[in-house]
Amino acid sequence: MKEINLTTKIAVYPLEECTDAEKKLIEAAKEATLNAYAPYSRFLVGAAVLLENGQTFIGSNQENAAYPSGLCAERTAVFSAHSTLHDQKVEMIAIAAWRDGKFTEEVITPCGACRQVLLEAENRFDAPMRILMYSENAVYVANSIKELLPLSFGDEMLK
Ligand code: THU
Repeated sequence: MKEINLTTKIAVYPLEECTDAEKKLIEAAKEATLNAYAPYSRFLVGAAVLLENGQTFIGSNQENAAYPSGLCAERTAVFSAHSTLHDQKVEMIAIAAWRDGKFTEEVITPCGACRQVLLEAENRFDAPMRILMYSENAVYVANSIKELLPLSFGDEMLK
């Protein structure tokens, strides 16, 4: 038997140390929580995507009484961006979450299904995206979705 140890690199930044572009995108993600429709979980998530042409698209979680019919903020944002501008790669995505009247003190990290969609968004342009996961205490930054999705299943498996 042998073991494979996989490592993940995440940088932890105080908000003040983020670049202006990152701060702006985080602000857009925070604002996007205002558009969340989350009457069931009361967990309001916002995401903001920065495309290579400089345009920002936002998304928020949109829940449904038939629970699985709802969609997370990250997928809403990426699908909105790419259904409007199909040929623009995602440079960065920021995610923030609001619960019980405040932004969360723990970072908000994308769910498994969103990680898979973010992987596709990276792979289709063959370019990594920066992922900014916000909390009131710190911002976790990954330089590629591959940091969050080791041993991923992607398009290369189908070739
Ligand atoms: N949610 C997101 O929108 N993004 C995440 O990264 C995690 C979870 C949503 C799904 C559901 O509407 C609510 O948060 C609670 O899971």
